[in-house]
Amino acid sequence: MSHAQDVTAGLLPLPQQIRSAKHESGRTARGATRVQWTNEQDPLVQAYLERAFGTLDCGEILITVDQVAIDSLPQADMLEGYELELSPQQIHLKADSTWGAIHGLTTLKQLIYENTLPRQVHIVDQPRFPWRGLMLDVTRHFIPLPQLLEVVDGLQLLKLNVLHLHLSDDQGFRFGSEAFPKLVSDEHYAKDELCHLVAYAADRGIRVIPEIDVPGHVNHWLLAYPEWGSEQAKPSQRFGVHPGCLDPTQESVYQALETLFAEVAEVFPDRFVHVGGDEVNPKWWQRAEHVQAFIAEHDLKDARGLQNYFLCRLQISLAALNKQIIGWDEVLHEQMPDCLVQNWRGATTRDRALAVPRPCIVSAPYYLDLHFPADIHYRFDPTATQQDWLRMEDDLATDLRLEHTAEALSWTHQWRRGAIALDDSEPGAPVLGGEACQWAELVDGPTLPMRLWSRLPAVAERLWSNANCRDVTDFYRRLAGVLAHPELCSDGHQHTCLQQLGLTDQQIQAVQYLEPTKWYSRLLGAQALQARMQGSEMPQVRPYTVATPLNKVVDYLMPESFASRGLKDALTGEHLDELALLCEGAVAEPWPTGDDDVVEGLKANLAAIRLYQQTLAGATALDEALAGLRTHYRPYGEYMPALIPFLLDHLQTSR
Ligand code: ACM
Repeated sequence: MSHAQDVTAGLLPLPQQIRSAKHESGRTARGATRVQWTNEQDPLVQAYLERAFGTLDCGEILITVDQVAIDSLPQADMLEGYELELSPQQIHLKADSTWGAIHGLTTLKQLIYENTLPRQVHIVDQPRFPWRGLMLDVTRHFIPLPQLLEVVDGLQLLKLNVLHLHLSDDQGFRFGSEAFPKLVSDEHYAKDELCHLVAYAADRGIRVIPEIDVPGHVNHWLLAYPEWGSEQAKPSQRFGVHPGCLDPTQESVYQALETLFAEVAEVFPDRFVHVGGDEVNPKWWQRAEHVQAFIAEHDLKDARGLQNYFLCRLQISLAALNKQIIGWDEVLHEQMPDCLVQNWRGATTRDRALAVPRPCIVSAPYYLDLHFPADIHYRFDPTATQQDWLRMEDDLATDLRLEHTAEALSWTHQWRRGAIALDDSEPGAPVLGGEACQWAELVDGPTLPMRLWSRLPAVAERLWSNANCRDVTDFYRRLAGVLAHPELCSDGHQHTCLQQLGLTDQQIQAVQYLEPTKWYSRLLGAQALQARMQGSEMPQVRPYTVATPLNKVVDYLMPESFASRGLKDALTGEHLDELALLCEGAVAEPWPTGDDDVVEGLKANLAAIRLYQQTLAGATALDEALAGLRTHYRPYGEYMPALIPFLLDHLQTSR
């Protein structure tokens, strides 16, 4: 069905209920937009109309908003449902609140195609989960404020409602603290810039949640304030967990944190603040006599107990600021304070949190920095049983596209230690929803759009739409529709970036059939990856540091080759001849120096096309061709020849 005929083609996330009348199918041009309000006018909804619908012809729109948000901000329990009824004469948008009405207008925007709308459709919609977010690391690489505003626009289009900013880490500190200027990195957000971001996001129904990650991930802090640690930190530009951590025995550390979080609270009005708590390396605490004495004196047992003591102190300080805390799942502890838990270490920590009981935000299956294709994130449901979730994790190792990192995937099985089975009879605490996580060791401003928008829609749909909305083919069809929106600036931007690297149009087209290698293979590099898989100490030398420019072709590739997927139904002789010519031509042209692997990746695609063609022509036996294609499908440096799994799939199904 063409986009013009199909009501759902641009709808993502898919609404909960869509009814279209068969006798009134098709689209119509409706003339200039005219808005009427049945109750009072809603300023935020009116502003959205003016921003986004100026040149769009929606005809007459009647809007009914029951609770208009005047001077109120989006909150964790806000009402977000809406009803949108299109008849040939009129559009009626009804919502309980401003936030629902904003989502309803977004749906209307997604229904528009070539300035026409469906003649008749009735949509009744509300989110499945109240917490639907993106965690964006703005520390490893700084993302300038104007670009954060663009990210917010994209979140709005996908009906996501939380932007969680990871503002501090070993490599920097992006919150423009006035109390602790020595902490603040050169590239940072001034407090008034963050206030602007918060207001901009709130106008779009999006909450901004700051994360100040303590007591680990503080190497940068300890260079500025050595007195907050029990050892001397060393200047460092490397990635990976650093040994430095705050000294929880010192009152001055708590006083500083109180002052800092009070500043953070002035800027971020949301009820929730993220305090990190992940990957605390206990070595410094174990080596310091006074810390060990403190643990004994307070009957804390060990470093875990000390971390929990620290978290409890922080929770009390933040409660005084009327804030509730969120921590990564290492904060799980028998005596943990009142806290939301953000799951990131595989399947089992969600249920450990719910059993405490603590509400949980699911993130483990939604790590966008793993460069996985969208369908993998899409298949993980935040409320899947632990057993199903573990099975899906295990299945990843047998996915051809991840085979080159299969051994590394099993490294994460250590996170399954301490798993508990949830008792169905106990309601425990709720899964609030989830957040996709975009860590930024290998992402900066220019490369962010390709990384985010290619896969974030999969997570957005999983968190908004009905649990039985699981048709992957249909998802990709609608993804193509939603990626055409300028908010998700996919195509033009990538083309410009690749052109700036010196690629010709032909080369730009050809590299669309390549992908970056998966999991953390790029970030760790071959040596560290090997060490991680073997369980030995990882060498600290890795291919990337904060100073490594992200200026290779691989940095600008979509983590998933939509071009290869798009060919799936068109693997005919003629198409492949064209593609082979494209690859040949692209390979023959000069490439930017220092990136030879890209050519090897293209040659692998080319060899695979040739083999496929010979097989179709009967010149190569099927089994020989399948084996040959598998041999070609391997990493070429940081590149994967992404066309090959589709060729393999096609040949296998033609058996
Ligand atoms: C994390 O990925 N360290 C939360």
